[in-house]
Amino acid sequence: MIKSFATRIIAWQKRHGRHELPWQDTRDAYAIWVSEIMLQQTQVTAVIPYYRRFLQSFPDIHTLAAASQDEVLAHWSGLGYYSRARNLHQAAQNMERDHGGKFPADYAQVLALPGIGRSTAAAICVFAFSTRRAILDGNVKRVLARYFGIEGYPGDKRVEDDLWGRAEALLPKRNIETYTQGLMDLGASVCARRRPHCGACPLNEDCVAHRRGLTDRLPATKLKKVLPHKTTVMLVLQRAGEVLLEKRPATGIWGGLWSFPEMAPGENAEVICVQRFGARVIALQVMPVLEHGFTHFHLSITPQRLRVTALAPRAGEPGHIWLPLAEARTAAIPTPVRRILCDL
Ligand code: ADE
Repeated sequence: MIKSFATRIIAWQKRHGRHELPWQDTRDAYAIWVSEIMLQQTQVTAVIPYYRRFLQSFPDIHTLAAASQDEVLAHWSGLGYYSRARNLHQAAQNMERDHGGKFPADYAQVLALPGIGRSTAAAICVFAFSTRRAILDGNVKRVLARYFGIEGYPGDKRVEDDLWGRAEALLPKRNIETYTQGLMDLGASVCARRRPHCGACPLNEDCVAHRRGLTDRLPATKLKKVLPHKTTVMLVLQRAGEVLLEKRPATGIWGGLWSFPEMAPGENAEVICVQRFGARVIALQVMPVLEHGFTHFHLSITPQRLRVTALAPRAGEPGHIWLPLAEARTAAIPTPVRRILCDL
C-alpha cells in the first residue's frame, strides 16, 4: 500500500526539507508576509539578505506604514518587480486604517490586501495561523502537473482551475505547515524544472510523468513570444562629485524609483542638458551598453556620462536630486542604474 500523497510529503519534509530559513522560526504573520512577497518572483538565496535588512528597518506593520515610499523602495533596490514593495507599503497602511494595525487572521481579509493573490494568502495563513488552505505557486504547479500527468500550460485558466481543485483535495487534516513547506521544498529541489531527481522523490511510485517518462514534457511551457526590444540613452550628469537622479512616475517600470534622466538615441545630449537642466556640458563620454530584461520587453541602455557646469537651477525642481556618488548607490535605484553608478 502506498501512503497518501500528503503523508509522503510530510515525511519527506521532516527528513529532507529546509528547516533553517529565516522566516521559518516565526509565527509573526507580518514577517511571514514580507518573506512570501519577496519569494514571489525571487529565489530564496537572493531573498535572504533583503529579508533580514527589511525586517531590521521595518520590524512591524506600524513602522512600515509610517515609512516613506522612498525608504521602502530603497530596501527593495535590486530585487526587481517593485510593485511588490509599493503594494507592501500600501497594505501596511491599509492594515493600520482597517485592522487596528494588526495583521488580519482571516483568509478573505488577507486576500483582500494589495499584492496578495490566492496562493500567497494561503501560504501566509498556513505558516502564521495553521489555516488549512492550498497553495499553488509555480513550483507546486510543476509537482502536481507531473504527478497527475496533466497536459496543457498551467497558466491557462482551465488547467489552473483543475490544479487548484487537486491541490485542495490533497490537503492533509493535520500538519498543514509541514505539508505546505514540503511541497514548496520538493518543487524547489527534487522536482526541478530540468533534470528532476526522481530517484529521490517520495512521489515517484505513482507519479504519472515519471512512470511514463514525461518529466521533460510536463508541465507544458508557454509558447515563447519574441519580446520587443527597446533602446534608451541614460544621461549621467556629474558635477563636483555628485550625480543627478530623477524620480520615475509612480506607476509603470521602476515606478517611484530614482533613475537617470533619459533621452531617445537620436537626440543630442548637450542640447537636452541646456534645455532641461540649464547645464552646460564640459565633457561627454559614451559608456558601454547595458542590457536589461523585463518580463515584457528587453531594454538596451547606452549611458552617456556628462560633466556639467552651472548649478542647473531647473534640476532643483521636485523630482530631481543631486546626490554624492556613495549616497546615490544606496538610494532606491534599479539594478542598471546601480551598475552605472558603480562604474563611475
Ligand atoms: N517560496 C515561496 N514561499 C516559500 C517559503 N516559505 N519557503 C521557501 N520557498 C518559498
